[in-house]
Amino acid sequence: MTRGRFITFEGIDGAGKSTQIDRLQALLVERGIEVVRTREPGGTPLAEKIRALLLADDMCTMSETLLFFAARAEHIARVIEPALARGAWVLSDRFTDATYAYQVGGKAFDGAAVEVLERMVQGQLNPDKTVLFDIEPLVAAERLAKARAADRFERESVDFFRRVREAYLDRARRNPERFFIVDAALSPEDVSRALLTEAQGWL
Ligand code: TYD
Repeated sequence: MTRGRFITFEGIDGAGKSTQIDRLQALLVERGIEVVRTREPGGTPLAEKIRALLLADDMCTMSETLLFFAARAEHIARVIEPALARGAWVLSDRFTDATYAYQVGGKAFDGAAVEVLERMVQGQLNPDKTVLFDIEPLVAAERLAKARAADRFERESVDFFRRVREAYLDRARRNPERFFIVDAALSPEDVSRALLTEAQGWL
């Protein structure tokens, strides 16, 4: 049995990830691939409870980071690893790059500490491919304002999202073989075209 692929999707809030993950999922299913669609924080009943705390309650960045990794440990043990082991492809809306972008880039949390947690929680597990939906924070904020009520993270300032965006782009520059950057300011159709063309190469 060949191991499945682990694909993660990243970007600031309002980049339009969900619609695009739907389209990629449809393409893979059409090709007869078993797809497990999931998200972080979340993906298991306990991790979804942690998600509710993270999105609603004020807390220090230390607790926040540890809770993201606690949710991630559950998610890996109960969903991601079993799926990959049986040959399914896992599509996760966010993973550890989000911690580097939001907690380290956005909130100046210690990057070396995140590296330690990452190795402790993930062991050898890393995404095979990461799609970064890159967008100017003001454009993303406009989209979000129209779409839904903001959670604790979405209420952050435009400056915060500029730091998050830069941190994502920096991670992409350091891992060029893993990252695929899409210009998320394009129309949804153009973004899909770029993503699905890239995904043909993975198949
Ligand atoms: P997300 O699921 O993208 O929110 P929504 O359902 O509103 O689109 O993620 C929730 C928030 O958590 C998002 O603002 C990013 C943040 N986040 C971090 O700050 N660090 C992390 O490690 C992860 C996974 C998410």
